[in-house]
Amino acid sequence: MPGFELFGATERKHVNDVLETGIMMRYGFDGPRKGIWKAKELEQALCQKLGCQYAQLVSSGTAALTTAMAALGIGYGDEVIMPAFTFVASFEAVLSVGAVPVLCDVDDTLTLNPEAVRQLITPKTKCVMPVHMCGSMANMDALLLLCKEHNLLLLEDACQSFGATYKGQYLGTIGDAGTFSFDFVKTITCAEGGAIVTNREDVYINSDGYSDHGHDHKGADRGADLHPFIGYNYRISELHAAVGLAQISRLEEFLSIQKRNHSQLKSILSQVPEVSFRRIPDPSGDSCTFLCWFLPNAAVTKAVVAELKAQNILAGNFYWFDNNWHYIRKWDHLKNMITLNALHPELKTAVQAQANKDFSASDAVMSRCICTSISLTWTEEQVKEKGEKIVGVIKKVLSEQPVSA
Ligand SMILES: Cc1ncc(COP(=O)(O)O)c(C=O)c1O
Repeated sequence: MPGFELFGATERKHVNDVLETGIMMRYGFDGPRKGIWKAKELEQALCQKLGCQYAQLVSSGTAALTTAMAALGIGYGDEVIMPAFTFVASFEAVLSVGAVPVLCDVDDTLTLNPEAVRQLITPKTKCVMPVHMCGSMANMDALLLLCKEHNLLLLEDACQSFGATYKGQYLGTIGDAGTFSFDFVKTITCAEGGAIVTNREDVYINSDGYSDHGHDHKGADRGADLHPFIGYNYRISELHAAVGLAQISRLEEFLSIQKRNHSQLKSILSQVPEVSFRRIPDPSGDSCTFLCWFLPNAAVTKAVVAELKAQNILAGNFYWFDNNWHYIRKWDHLKNMITLNALHPELKTAVQAQANKDFSASDAVMSRCICTSISLTWTEEQVKEKGEKIVGVIKKVLSEQPVSA
């Protein structure tokens, strides 16, 4: 899956450009940097690639989400509807601006179930935040309609789905704002980094200032900048941006390898009638970083995971249902609101009420799902071998635990 697998000469060249000047900060130092502006160039490349108006690079995907929340004016008293299957960063960002993450069931798209979202809308709802998990997308038409009907903001957490599209539009560019992660294991990497993209000028200006202590960035002298609002430091460095600039130039190469390996693996797993696949609202837009598949029930799925482990071939196959970081079931720190700093009791109570709800509809999906991450380095032979080994494991388990039709 990740671009780091193919790190090479292009990445080294861009990093060396920065090392030559020694200017590793993205702002200022206009003279000594000798025309090298990697962060600015990467922001332009993002806009050009994604067809959006504005991009703001930051230090991580988590910082991008936090910045986007603040830039959209989400805060105290607001509720943000988000899925129960995501990475913890999604709710961390909501909490960081003092809002309440309202966890919502996912369906067989592994993303927000639009009907479940509808049930959760209250007068406090300010934003719907779909998370485009594992390289593929939420049902954006349904969510856009809901947001329009209820006058809600739509923020796309596209951290895991850079380069994926929905009906011809890049994920992240469809709502009021979108975020990407360029951490080490994403489709393209900066080593660490993230971005907010938007077509709204106000959201961009807010993001630009918020991620750099509130600087208005209007003049050449940083010390003379005004601070129209309070911000923080979520800046990306030039070294990180340099890596990203190299990687974005290779995006199409990465995507085409992923698609080829994904399609080969899918056709091998399709041989087993008991295996079904994740529903993809627009299959042509899948970035194919993962192949997500379902087994008929939780018992068979658990047995398959155990057998993959026993045969030492579990690596790269994710059973999110048992994962500590990606699914509500294991988020005890959220369920008990264990924080280092004291929070307002009203916020604590509201969050605990959300995190301790019944998620049996999501459990029914997630307990049957395994996602296989797609490597950029696999050869055709290796995909065949991996696929056939997985098929062998599934067949073995099914012969021991037959599933009635
Ligand atoms: C869905 C999702 N959102 C946000 C993030 C946070 O990105 P980062 O690791 O760059 O902070 C991640 C990272 O894995 C993610 O998967």
